[in-house]
Amino acid sequence: MITKKKHSLLFICLGNICRSPAAEGVMKAKVHECGLDSEFFIDSAGIGDWHVGQLPDSRMRDRGARRGYRFDSHARQIRQSDFDDFDLLLVMDKANYKAVTAQASSEEARSKVRMLTDYLVEHSGTDVVPDPYYGDLSDFDYALDLIEDACEGLLGEISGNY
Ligand code: 4NP
Repeated sequence: MITKKKHSLLFICLGNICRSPAAEGVMKAKVHECGLDSEFFIDSAGIGDWHVGQLPDSRMRDRGARRGYRFDSHARQIRQSDFDDFDLLLVMDKANYKAVTAQASSEEARSKVRMLTDYLVEHSGTDVVPDPYYGDLSDFDYALDLIEDACEGLLGEISGNY
């Protein structure tokens, strides 16, 4: 019997406490709404190790909760095996892209690294999910606007391939 491989998505940002855990939680929620949980493996990671083990930033947890999301992953750092274990490594900004592609050990690994903004629909033309960490609550809301839009676009693109 041929078993269909799961779609495996890793969301990556600098600290893994604001943008990428939000993207993980939003994507999981959208996949769940579509009844596709069994078809996906979704995780997030950070480029730095400063926040390893921590829950997402309380501001992102609060702003996400207002939209019905629960962000409760624990931060971890990216590792070399992520390039083998995931189909796509989705980064938030250009510095993330540079840092992650620098760790890719082959062209195949490098080609898995994509900007999350590539999947924006409503906000097409925006090319980064800005880091809200040193910003105010509106910066967290804006990051969530972009993340929701891109996750819908990504899910549409993947499920269009069924
Ligand atoms: P994130 O935001 O990359 O979206 O998780 C940040 C969180 C923490 C730091 C930087 C960005 N920091 O410098 O500690």
